[in-house]
Amino acid sequence: MVVRVSTVAFEGIEARPVDVQVMISNGTVVFNVVGLGDKAVAESRERVRSALVASGLSLPAKRITVNLAPADLPKEGSHYDLPIALGVMVAMGALPSDALDGFTVLGELALDGAITPVSGVLPAAVAASARGLGLICPAECGPEAAWASEDISILAPRNLIQIANHFHGSQVLSRPIPAVKSLSGPQPDLRDIKGQESAKRALEIAAAGGHNLLFNGPPGAGKSMLAARLPSILPPLTPGELLEVSMIHSVAGNIAGGQLTDRRPFRAPHHSASMAALVGGGTHARPGEASLAHHGVLFLDELPEFQAPALDALRQPLESGEIAISRANRRCVYPARFQLIAAMNPCRCGLANEPGHRCQKGSPQRCSALYQNRLSGPFLDRIDLHLEVPAIRASDLILPPAEEGSEQVAARVAQARDIQRYRYKALGYDHVACNAMATASIIEQTIKLDDAGGKLIRDASDRLRLSARGFHRVLKLARTIADLQGAPDVLRAHLGEALSYRPMVDRASAAA
Ligand SMILES: Nc1ncnc2c1ncn2[C@@H]1O[C@H](COP(=O)(O)OP(=O)(O)O)[C@@H](O)[C@H]1O
Ligand SMILES: [Mg+2]
Repeated sequence: MVVRVSTVAFEGIEARPVDVQVMISNGTVVFNVVGLGDKAVAESRERVRSALVASGLSLPAKRITVNLAPADLPKEGSHYDLPIALGVMVAMGALPSDALDGFTVLGELALDGAITPVSGVLPAAVAASARGLGLICPAECGPEAAWASEDISILAPRNLIQIANHFHGSQVLSRPIPAVKSLSGPQPDLRDIKGQESAKRALEIAAAGGHNLLFNGPPGAGKSMLAARLPSILPPLTPGELLEVSMIHSVAGNIAGGQLTDRRPFRAPHHSASMAALVGGGTHARPGEASLAHHGVLFLDELPEFQAPALDALRQPLESGEIAISRANRRCVYPARFQLIAAMNPCRCGLANEPGHRCQKGSPQRCSALYQNRLSGPFLDRIDLHLEVPAIRASDLILPPAEEGSEQVAARVAQARDIQRYRYKALGYDHVACNAMATASIIEQTIKLDDAGGKLIRDASDRLRLSARGFHRVLKLARTIADLQGAPDVLRAHLGEALSYRPMVDRASAAA
C-alpha cells in the first residue's frame, strides 16, 4: 500500500504542491528517498530514522521507499522530514490511515523527535488554505500559519509523540493564535535632529509619496541619522501589504517565533554586499535585500562604495517592482517594490564642497567628479529627490530640540497617503497606493497643468535635459508636494519645488 502525504516546494514565494509517497515492502532492508531532492532532502532519512526510534517506534526490517512527486520539480530544504516521518508512521500503522487526509505537512525533525522550525510556513499555509486543506507545522511556526486564514485547521505539535497522541485522541492540540511583534524600546525620533530643515522636508515628501531619495553631504552632517528616522514617519503596513511582506520574510526564514510585524521593513545592507545579497539568488535562489525591503525602505549608505554591477541590477526592480531570478532549471520572481534611500559623501575625502578645502587629488571638483562617476546616469535618473545636506554648524547644535517630532510629521504623511489612495481608487487603480507607484499614463490623468506650470516644466525640461522618465518623476513628485498641502491641483510652486530636487543628474553628466 502507498501512503500519500501532501507537502510543498517553494518557487519564489509560491508554494507548489508536492506529494510524498511512502511504500513499505518486503525486500532488502533499505530506506530510499527519490524525487529530485537536494542534500538536505537526502539527509532527511537519517533524521527521520532517529526521530522515530527516539519516539519509541523502530523501523520495520523492510524496504522503505519514499518518492517526492512531481519528480521533475526540484525540492530544497529540510521541511520534508515531517511529511516523510508521518507517512512512514501511517504506513507502519502507528497513525490512523486517514489521519493526514486534508492536511499539508511541513517541518524539520531533530534526532530526539522534536519538530523544529522551518522557513516558508506562511506561504505554505496560504497555499493550503487556497486548496481547502489544513496545515501541520512546527509549534514555533503555528502563530505565523494562523495568519493565513481563520478558517483553516492548524496543528502545531512540538514533537512526533504529540501529533500521534492528537490523532489517537489522548491529547488534543489547540489552534495557534496569530501573534504580532510589539516594538521594544524607544525608536529614533526626528526631534533628535537639530537644524537641517530642508533635509527633513525632503524626507517628509519622500515618505508621503514613496519617492526615492539621495542625500549628498560631508561626513557627520547627519545623513545616516536622517535616514534612520524615516521608518518613524511612514504609515504602518495595510493588512494586504503585511501578508505580502511576511510571505517574503517567511521564505527567507526571518520570522522569529512566528510573530509578524506591521512596521514597514527598513533594510540597510553594508556596501560590501554582493549582487546576490542585494537582488537575490545564490544556490538556493533566496530573496535579496531588495525583496526583503518590499513595501518598505532600502537604505544604501555610502552609495558610491557599492559594486557598480550590484547597483545597476537594482534598476530593474526600481522600475518594475519585482526581481526575476533565472536558473539553469527554473525561474522565480520575487516582489521588490521598495523605496530607495541613499546617502553619499560628495567625494572620497568627503569635503569637496567645504570652503578652503585642499584635496590631494588636485581640485576638489575633479575629486568629486571621479567619485560621483561611479554611479551610472540611468541609476541616478531613477532617484526623484537629490538633496545637498550641508555640514551642521555648532550654533545649530546648541539649539533646543525641535518642537515638531516624528508624530506630527507622520500624521501629515498619513493624510497625504490617504488622499493618494482615495484618488487612485476612484480612478479604478486599486493597486496604486502612492504617487511613486503610478505609471506615466496614470499620473498624467491626475495632473492638469495651468499655463504657468506648463511653461515652467517645458523650460526646465530643456534646461535640465530631462529624460522622459525624469519628466514623469518630476510630475509625480509635484503631485506629492501638492497632496501634502491638500491642494487638488498641481500648481507652478509645486512643480518649482519638485524641479529643485533634480540637480545632480545634470552635474554628473556635465562632469562626465
Ligand atoms: N543635525 C544634527 N543634529 C544632531 N546631531 C547631529 C546632527 N548631525 C549629526 N549629528 C551627530 O553626528 C553624528 C554623525 O551623524 P551621521 O548621521 O552618522 O553623519 P553622516 O552619515 O552624514 O556622516 C550623529 O550620530 C549625531 O550624534
Ligand atoms: Mg553616514
